[in-house]
This record gives sequence, C-alpha cells and structure tokens, in this order.
Amino acid sequence: MKLILLGKPGAGKGTQAKKIADYYNIPHISTGEMFRQAYAGKTELGVLAHDKYWGKGHLVPDDITLKLVEERLAKGDCKKGFILDGFPRTLVQAKALDKNNTIDHVLYIETPDSLCIQRIAGRRNCSQCAKDYNIYFNPPKKDTLCDTCNQQLVQRPDDKEDIVKQRIIVYENQTQPLIAYYQNNIVTVTDNGNDSPDKLFQKIKKALGK
Ligand code: AP5
Repeated sequence: MKLILLGKPGAGKGTQAKKIADYYNIPHISTGEMFRQAYAGKTELGVLAHDKYWGKGHLVPDDITLKLVEERLAKGDCKKGFILDGFPRTLVQAKALDKNNTIDHVLYIETPDSLCIQRIAGRRNCSQCAKDYNIYFNPPKKDTLCDTCNQQLVQRPDDKEDIVKQRIIVYENQTQPLIAYYQNNIVTVTDNGNDSPDKLFQKIKKALGK
C-alpha cells in the first residue's frame, strides 16, 4: 500500500505515520526526519537545509527534497509500499511523485490551527531517550527533566513560536493546494483534540476501510 499523509505542522502526521507503518508493515518515510538526521550528522546538506530553510520555517527547495525522496523510494523495502509523512509539500513535488508512483490513499488529518500551535510550541523531547512531552498537556513531573531518564528536555529548533507561525503560513500557501490536487483520492479524518493518538488511529483504519 502506498500512502501519503497530509496535514498542518503539528496535525499528528508523524504520530499516526508510525502506527500506520507498524500496522501495514510498510516503511515510514518522513522528509522532516531525514533533514533532522542529516543536520544531527553534520552533513553539508544537513547543515545547509537547517541554516537556510527548515530552521527558519521555510521549505527546503524542491530539487534537494526530490533527490532525497527519489533515492529513498528506490530502496528495496519500498517495493511493498510506503507511507510518506511530510512529502509532498508542493505541487511540484506531488507531480514528480505521480510520474513514477500510483498512490493508493491520500490521508488528510484536519486540525484547527490553535491545536497545532499548542502541540508543537509546547513540545519538548528528552535529549537522551527522545520521549515526547508537552508543557501544556503533558508536562514532566520535574520541571525540564525527563521522568524516565532524568535528562534535560530540549525543544526542536523549528518549534519556537514565531517559527511555528511561519510554518503554518508556508503550509497554507504551498501545501494546502494539494488537498484540491488530490480531491479524487483523499480521505479526511478530523482531529479536534478530543481523541488520543490510539483512538484517532482507529478512526484512520476505519476511514481507509481496513
Ligand atoms: P516535518 O518534520 O514534516 O514537520 P511538520 O509537519 O511541520 O510538523 P511536525 O512534525 O511537528 O508535525 P506532525 O504533523 O508530524 O505532528 P506530530 O505527530 O509530530 O518537517 C520539518 C521541516 O522540514 C519543514 O518545516 C520543512 O522546512 C522541512 N521539510 C520537511 N518535508 C519537506 C518537504 N517535503 N519539502 C520541503 N521541505 C520539507 O505531533 C506533534 C505533537 O503533538 C507531538 O508532541 C505529539 O506527541 C502530539 N500529538 C500528536 N497527536 C496527538 C493526539 N492525538 N493527542 C495529543 N497529542 C498528540
């Protein structure tokens, strides 16, 4: 099965993509995660993409992103399908993907802006085990330390509030048009903030008819 997951920054794409990947036994391909890993590994591309683009809330240019995704999709594990999380994000990317792939489902997680902003502006992760917290909804017991390993919690560089607002503007201008582009193939699931990730996943499975 070949799936695309669309939604605003903070809609819960990464959270649901992991569950979908486990359930359908397909690789989870997150372009955001690829850029963060390249930055953590201090590769030339990783540092450039952070310093000029994603660290400031802008999209990484299409040519760089497309090359990265094309290389990933050419790997053997993608033959059985994949879930794309955060790609495509522009019409250029969507059209390039369409050239060589038939997508089974485009899943759109619809969320209000206020929820997305609180989720990502409040997100903190343990610097050691990466456990996820939110200072508004799910704070750690001890100030800024992980409950499990007592290590410092850190904020993603692009999760600072002014950059989050910029990411939402970029989403509205460049990614939102994809909803119309995929209109014949899109499945929408609404998240108003009342459902746990597991409950939302049940809704997604039902919407996908599986
Ligand atoms: P990317 O990593 O894709 O970031 P994003 O989509 O902007 O935002 P998030 O990953 O923060 O949101 P999400 O929807 O995955 O939500 P999550 O599950 O994490 O991209 C980062 C940057 O890289 C981009 O801004 C861009 O610059 C660049 N980039 C990436 N792809 C690109 C492309 N194709 N082209 C060009 N540039 C590209 O959840 C958020 C939080 O909410 C978490 O703390 C989670 O635990 C919590 N949460 C989730 N669901 C629930 C729930 N149901 N209840 C309570 N909490 C929940």
